[in-house]
Amino acid sequence: PYKWTFQFPLPIPPVKAPSKTIVNPITGKNILYYEVEIKEFKSQVYPDRGPATLWGYDGMSPGPTFIVEKGTETVVRFVNNARLANSVHLHGSYSRAPFDGWAEDITPPGWYKDYYYPNSQSGRTLWYHDHAIDHTAENAYYGQAGAYILHDPSIESPLGLPSGYGTFDIPLILSAKQYTSSGSLFSPADETTSLYGDVIHVNGQPWPFLNVEPRKYRFRFLDASISRSFLLYFERDAKVGGTKLPFDVIASDAGLLNAPQRVNELYISMAERYEVVVDFGGYKGENITLKNARDVGADRDFPDTDKVMRFVVSDVAVVDDESSRVPAVLRSVPFPKTKTQVDQHFKFERSNGEWKINGVSFADVANRVLARPKRGTVEVWELENSSGGWTHPIHIHLVDFRVKKRVNGKRSVLPYEAQGLKDVVWLGPGETVTVEAHYAPWDGVYMFHCHNLIHEDHEMMAAFNVSVLQD
Ligand code: C2O
Ligand code: CU
Repeated sequence: PYKWTFQFPLPIPPVKAPSKTIVNPITGKNILYYEVEIKEFKSQVYPDRGPATLWGYDGMSPGPTFIVEKGTETVVRFVNNARLANSVHLHGSYSRAPFDGWAEDITPPGWYKDYYYPNSQSGRTLWYHDHAIDHTAENAYYGQAGAYILHDPSIESPLGLPSGYGTFDIPLILSAKQYTSSGSLFSPADETTSLYGDVIHVNGQPWPFLNVEPRKYRFRFLDASISRSFLLYFERDAKVGGTKLPFDVIASDAGLLNAPQRVNELYISMAERYEVVVDFGGYKGENITLKNARDVGADRDFPDTDKVMRFVVSDVAVVDDESSRVPAVLRSVPFPKTKTQVDQHFKFERSNGEWKINGVSFADVANRVLARPKRGTVEVWELENSSGGWTHPIHIHLVDFRVKKRVNGKRSVLPYEAQGLKDVVWLGPGETVTVEAHYAPWDGVYMFHCHNLIHEDHEMMAAFNVSVLQD
């Protein structure tokens, strides 16, 4: 077992610096150019075992954090010096199809590819991760995942939310992995259903701690696990009652919600992002533990998977926190025009030991385009989990969608799902969820799939073709 729970500090991924500015020959505007090398590195996860070998962006896991202002285009050269081919997907970006990380558009070891990102969407927490055909789970698990913050000062600055990357605005990237007795990672390569992982990491460190001041913090949660979902809550010590802290959910996958949602627990499945503001003001000198409920979704529990990390609140007088607040209104979310007709019904199923969507696997090249939305139109898709006791977080590339309806499971649509736009939705066992999106702004063939990366690699993925021509 891992004996150092809450003894190592939370690492903060460094901010990625551009290596130069280039001029867009068409618009005359500046483009920031970055270079990232995917390479091997060692990480001492267990102090009493050997190090684990990882393959990460710039030799770290998570990769460095991109912070880009809305309206600034970027080009990122991903140099592949890892052992497997890769394809990079910027999850949450409406990238043009050739830069969207199409699974078969792989860059072999020793090669590079330049990706262009428009960064013209609303401010949000995106993430970049591998998407290579058949090896996404392995590549992401061995380190290829990082945060990409698209910042829109015109909307955010007036709000006065806690700010400052790494100080009061902190990414918390969750993952769950498993290690061998030698300290190396147990590989997901041979798994065909799930690898839940008994070791919970935040920003690459198992069960870390973070020293905080008694004031408000903005945390950007991302579940980068390959198979584990969470029901998170912040808990006070048993000595002071062990109660759950209230906190505000302020943003989801596609950025700010209409209004903050006060909760004391938060569901988050693979690839989902939720941003929260927690006020430690009332808890000076206390330890606040971020916990995970037992029996979440269809996940397998281990002795310590109910713990995530610890916040150690300093004993100083409550920090005057007048400048950071959570306003009652955050923005007006651009929901798609609503319609009643259902355009597509997709069954996420398991048949003959294989994961499929409407009976089709991604390898079935002739049949894998399952939808043809006309560009600029709104479509309503019903996503049905018909595979019994499994969790399938479904991600649709290109679009931001509204979660309209959730039936046949334990939950209805959660308030923090309903108040913003999303690009991943959690399908619990038996659930059918209805999502509505505006299929725009570009033509192109894009993927949609389960974000349990083992299911994705085992064919629970299909494509849709957006074009202005069809009707
Ligand atoms: Cu985050 Cu198609 O992936
Ligand atoms: Cu799945």
